[in-house]
Amino acid sequence: MMPAENSRTPSLTPTIQLLDHLPDDRVDDAAALYLSALADKLVPVYGVGPRARQALMCGFNRHMCITAEENDRLVGILGIQSAVAGFMNVTINTLRPFYGTFGSLWRMALLAFLHYPPMADEAYIDGVAVLPEYRGRGVGTGLIAALETWATGHGLSIIRLEVVDANPRAEKLYRRIGFKAVHAQTVWPFGTLFGFQSSTVMVKTLN
Ligand SMILES: CC(C)(COP(=O)(O)OP(=O)(O)OC[C@H]1O[C@@H](n2cnc3c(N)ncnc32)[C@H](O)[C@@H]1OP(=O)(O)O)[C@@H](O)C(=O)NCCC(=O)NCCS
Repeated sequence: MMPAENSRTPSLTPTIQLLDHLPDDRVDDAAALYLSALADKLVPVYGVGPRARQALMCGFNRHMCITAEENDRLVGILGIQSAVAGFMNVTINTLRPFYGTFGSLWRMALLAFLHYPPMADEAYIDGVAVLPEYRGRGVGTGLIAALETWATGHGLSIIRLEVVDANPRAEKLYRRIGFKAVHAQTVWPFGTLFGFQSSTVMVKTLN
């Protein structure tokens, strides 16, 4: 069952609220935040500008994410992928209106290369991004804590994520909150395209 649109988890701070969905009127902001914060993975596929934002938001499932907002402004978002549903849904039909048939096919191939299909007991973090001016204030930690509650409520026992070698600060955050590295994987032969050479898969088992 879809959660109610006004469903909120407890406040992160007196002014920052966490929600278990992306409000309809924040979809464009979410796409812009994803494209800028997760540029190394998304820009090679989607490009930049209005077309990239439109193509990205076409695939969003607004009920497969945790969001943080302050004064009706989106300040952070965490996309969730489970074995049954995911925040980012890309098909030839969502891409073709923006990139044509050939442009969609190579983009699908690149996205398939990056895609991780979660196991039945896993929630996979399909991107987490906080506005630059809000970083280092606990929003990312709060989004992940809310995901843990979400996962437990959905009968899932493992959170999995991938962090690229070019992002040691994010890796440090994940280690601090209990994630353990399980293996590293290379993005060869696409390292030059994506701007990173390898990524580390990290896992947290929930009690
Ligand atoms: C990674 C990210 C989601 C963390 O969110 P956050 O709200 O800054 O995280 P918190 O405030 O809860 O925790 C801060 C910790 O995050 C880590 N961090 C990672 N990148 C950071 C950044 N650009 N600014 C501040 N902290 C960052 C640090 O380890 C920091 O701990 P420290 O203060 O001891 O150095 C956020 O910095 C971000 O959006 N970065 C750009 C996108 C990105 O890298 N996403 C992760 C992809 S795997």
